[in-house]
This record gives sequence, structure tokens and C-alpha cells, in this order.
Amino acid sequence: MTAEMSVEPTLPEEMRPSRYIEKVSLITGEILDEEILPKQLLVQQHRDYHLLDIHARRMMSRVVRETGSPEEARKKMRQLRHKGRRAAEVIAKLIGQRDVAKVSKALFGLKEKEYFFRFKRPSVTTAEITQRPAELREEAREKLENLSGKGRPALRVLLTGGTGFVGKEIIWQATRDDDIAEMIVVIRPRKVVDRKTGEVVRVLSPAERGERLLDRLWLDTPETRAKFSFVAGDVEQPNLGIATEVLEELGPRITHVVHCAASVSFDDPYEKSFRANVTGTLNALRFSHAVQSMPGSSFVAHLGIETSYIHGRKVKGLAREAEVVFPRNFYNNFYEATKAMASFETERFMLEKGLRVVQLCPAIVIGETKAGNNRGDTKVVNAPVNLFGRAQEALASQDGSWIARSKGHMLAKMACVFPADPTAELNLVPVDRVAAGILAALKKPAAVGERIHLAGDHRLTSQQIAQIVQEELGVKVKLAEPTLHRTVTLPIVTKILKAAKQDKIAHALDKLGTIFAGYSEWGQPIHQVGNDVRVLGLPTPRPNTEHVFRLLCRHNRFVQDFGKVHDLDEISRREKAWWDFMLGLEEETGMPVGAIPADKFHTMMDDRLDTTTFTLLRRGEA
Ligand SMILES: NC(=O)c1ccc[n+]([C@@H]2O[C@H](COP(=O)([O-])OP(=O)(O)OC[C@H]3O[C@@H](n4cnc5c(N)ncnc54)[C@H](OP(=O)(O)O)[C@@H]3O)[C@@H](O)[C@H]2O)c1
Repeated sequence: MTAEMSVEPTLPEEMRPSRYIEKVSLITGEILDEEILPKQLLVQQHRDYHLLDIHARRMMSRVVRETGSPEEARKKMRQLRHKGRRAAEVIAKLIGQRDVAKVSKALFGLKEKEYFFRFKRPSVTTAEITQRPAELREEAREKLENLSGKGRPALRVLLTGGTGFVGKEIIWQATRDDDIAEMIVVIRPRKVVDRKTGEVVRVLSPAERGERLLDRLWLDTPETRAKFSFVAGDVEQPNLGIATEVLEELGPRITHVVHCAASVSFDDPYEKSFRANVTGTLNALRFSHAVQSMPGSSFVAHLGIETSYIHGRKVKGLAREAEVVFPRNFYNNFYEATKAMASFETERFMLEKGLRVVQLCPAIVIGETKAGNNRGDTKVVNAPVNLFGRAQEALASQDGSWIARSKGHMLAKMACVFPADPTAELNLVPVDRVAAGILAALKKPAAVGERIHLAGDHRLTSQQIAQIVQEELGVKVKLAEPTLHRTVTLPIVTKILKAAKQDKIAHALDKLGTIFAGYSEWGQPIHQVGNDVRVLGLPTPRPNTEHVFRLLCRHNRFVQDFGKVHDLDEISRREKAWWDFMLGLEEETGMPVGAIPADKFHTMMDDRLDTTTFTLLRRGEA
């Protein structure tokens, strides 16, 4: 064991990566009996260890940019490694050092990996792996048929994560879905904290949170609210923290569990991500298994909401729906790694315990297709867009003295540098497509046993994203070479900002740099799609990603004021006016609003929507 390993705090047995992953010797093929540390699963643990490694990464990035071919870059890297190894052999001979690997690591940063990681397989036979899902699909088909009788299926769904971004869209669509008779949303109490003092001013009960949720989804009649109820719970607790008497009452009538709750934070420590994502999933699976096993159970299936990024940094080949392999280029963060572990638990429950499960894996989820509404979400791609928008406001501001303005301009310029390779592709999917996939899966027995990517087939490159941001927000984002930015520029810039007492911006930039650098390097995974259409029957063409990203920019700029409008009631009010305006515009122009060029859109908006008061000036004319 190395000195580095011994300082890691010991994890409880059930949280150790070795529960899911094994380390295999590349030389002998044997499983190595060594502890696997969480940080060893991450990309950053395996790079930037030598100046030449940093240089090689920069060079590869340049080759990809110039040739547009990742394969060419990989070839160049192989040639370089080969030359380095030959040189190390010669030097080792000259200096009388027998350990050539030691010389090549010291001089050229060439690490010879002696092991690789792989996921442990479930303890079932190969025959069972194919038979079990087929049997479970047949059971689900019978269960669903029994439910529907002669009429429509009366689905009774228990949902976790209903207060989140995806969960809200599920509720919104469930309101309009007559096959869903009842939706029980598991909610935890929420502490309301004073933003200035950090003091807890009150605690909102699950029932209060549920009622507010429906208000904000514009469900203002008893009829539209009738199918929803709320139970207190916490996914990190056994039985999802649901009281025994409530469970006994609900259990026999639940037809589906949709487990959507998770911690979608890219900078959480391992233990926190594990508790929310793996322990939470295990509790949901155990809950569903108990419901499925109840006498007289109506249970059809458990739907696990995962992510297509469970494939991690897979730079070669398709990230396939049918199979998850440990990524040769590791994971970007513990969110991805723990979601992958959760996926293995879900598969294990299916194969070993016969739980009927569907695994749904969205890509990066953004606002919906018609208006870009996101109900207050500020996560993931929203964060850089909001930062660029605020930086642009600072650049355009005429407030304050000349010195204050110059300082503001300098800071804003720094905030507009983003570490991204122009060729890096992001897979974005609008939230309405994701929720439509989830609701479709409730009614498709064929989905049982499948892993389904809810992703796009048209990915946006960093270059295209920067271009759209410039057109929509007027911000000129400078794409910086990610390795150089991470290792040189960012540490210097954050130091300068801190010296200028701009700790908040320094922190935001640092956070963005570390969170996003991984997603904007060349060689991003390509997530296979197909089951969304073949199994779930979702429509084609898949959403136009360029259009929805434009809507994200417009929505975040006008509705959310780049994340400065925090009050969810106010966001709900603004989104209603925005929705009416955008749908009116689509009707009037006969084209998706995302297809209208930015300047034309702004002119049309000025005429139809007051973005100060958020009131409609006139409805679009058909
Ligand atoms: N957003 C994306 O880009 C994206 C992409 C791919 C996959 N996904 C997956 O989609 C699902 C939903 O994501 P999202 O974007 O909607 O996340 P989100 O907006 O952060 O919402 C997370 C939800 O989980 C709930 N939750 C977290 N911990 C909980 C606990 N201990 N007990 C009860 N509820 C808890 C939250 O409740 P509170 O309101 O109480 O915090 C909230 O309702 C997740 O499984 C995520 O991995 C999301």
C-alpha cells in the first residue's frame, strides 16, 4: 500500500468501490486483491502528473482541431509513447538503470499501467441474463393487461424526486395523461434558510411543499390537482422513509415506482454522492421489491432514472444501451461513478431477485422544446450560460466610476474564457422528451429489462455552443485549450481575482473550470440511441438540439435574468407569460421559435412581451 493510500479515511464496507468494481492485472489477468480508492475512479487522478503529459494532451487537442480526427490524435500519441519508450531504453542502458519503466516515468511521464478496472458481473448464469428479462417482460405484460380490463390502464405511480427539474415535468405531463389515475409524490421537509444570515427561518412540511409545487405548475383547479398526493419520505432512509402504516395502505395499489431522486452535483464528495445515488437507489429497489411481493400486489414495474453518462469518459466506440463497461478513461466525477453503481444495483435486483425494472438514461437535460421553460433549474449547462450572461451585463454596464468600470470589464473578460476544445460534443436533451420517455415506459412492458438512452442524435460542439451564445447573448466566449487552462491559466486567474478581493467570482470560475473541463475536452462519449423510438415509441426526428439550446439562452436571459430571479413563485408567473408568448409566436410564424434568428426574435419579442413586468403586450395572431 502506498503512503498516499494510507491517509484516505476508511469507508464503510457497503460504500467501497470494490463492491462494484474489481482491479485486474494487465499482465496476468488475475483479480488484484487491493483496495480501490474512490479518487482512483476519476479522470483527474490519472493525468497532469508530469509536464510532458500536459504537453502531450495539448498536442492531441491541437491535432484533433486541425485534422478533425480523434483517431489521428490517438495514432500520434501512440507514436510518441513508442519513441519515448525507445529513448528510455537507450538512456537506461547508458546510466546502468535496469528498471526502464522508472526511467521512462521520470523523464517522459510515461506511466505503464499494470492494471485495469472492470465492473463485477452479477452472480447469475449467462442463460439467466437473457432468459430473466424475457420472463419479466411477460409478467409485466400480464400485470398491465389485468389493470386495464376493458378500459384504459389505471396507473398508480409513486414518484421520488418530484420537486426536481425532471420530476416537475413528469408531474406536468402526468396531469394530461388519462392513463395515470394517481400519482403519489415522496417529498422530504425543506428548511427555509435566510440567504444573508444562514439561519433556518422555517421548515416546510412535505404537504406544504407539494401544494406549492402544484401551484407553480399552474394546476389551479381541484380537477387538475385531484390525482396528486404527497407523502413524507427521504430516499436515503429504509423504505424511502415512508411510515409503515402509509406503506401498508399504499402498497397493494401501487403499479409503478419512478425513482427520480438523486444528487445531481458534479462536485459532491464520494460519500455524499454515494448516499444519495446508490443508497437512495437501493432503498427504492428494496421498496419496489417489497411492493411487488405483497399479496394482491398491482405492481407492474420499477423505473430507475439514471444518466447516459454512466458510461463515463469513453473516447472510443459507442456508449451502448445494452452494456456498461468501466470507462478506460475513467469518470468525470463521483456523480457519474455513483450513478453507474446504482445502475448495477438495478440490474442485480432484476437478475437476482426478479424485480421488474426499466432503466432510463437521460443525457444532459435542458429546458423544454417549445419555450425553454425549466421551472427554475440552474444546474449543469445553465451555470456557464448564466455566468456569461452576467459577464456581458458587466461589460455593457456604464455604472460607477471609470476605475470601477474598468475593473468590472477586466473581471468580465476573465469570466468569458471557457476551457473547451472546439470539437468537444455535448449531448443535450429537452426535459419534455425525457418525461415523455418516462411516461411511455410505464405503459410498455417491452421496456422491462432494457436500458434506454433518452438522448439526442445531433450533438452540439463547444464551437457551436459558443457561436449560439454570441448570437443570443452578445457574449464573445473565448474557448481556451482545456489542459493549459486547467493547469496554468485558471490557477493564475483565481489568484489575481482573490488578490482583487473577488473571491466569489474566483470561486465560481474555479468551480466551473473543474466541473466542466471534463465535458469539454475532445473525445466525448457518443451515446447510442434507438430504444427510445424502438421500445418506447417516441417520435422521430429527435429534438433539434440547436433550437433548444437557443431557447435555453433566451429563457435564462429574459425569464431568469441569468439566475438572479430565485423566487420560484415569480419564475412560475414569468414562465406562464413566456409560455403564452412563445406558443403564440410559434402559431403566428408557423415555425419552432428556436428556428427564428436571434435578432428577429428580439424584435418580435419587444412588440409582444414586456420583459420588465412580464406581461403580454399582444398575443400572436394566427
Ligand atoms: N438534470 C440533468 O441534466 C440530468 C441528466 C441526466 C440524468 N438526470 C437524472 O434525472 C433525475 C432527476 O434529476 P433532476 O435534474 O431533476 O435533479 P434535481 O433537479 O436536482 O432534483 C433532485 C430531486 O431529488 C430529490 N432528492 C434528493 N435527495 C433526496 C432525498 N434524500 N430524499 C428525497 N428526495 C431527494 C430532490 O428533492 P428536494 O427538492 O427535497 O431537494 C429533488 O426532488 C436524477 O436521477 C438525475 O440523475 C438528470
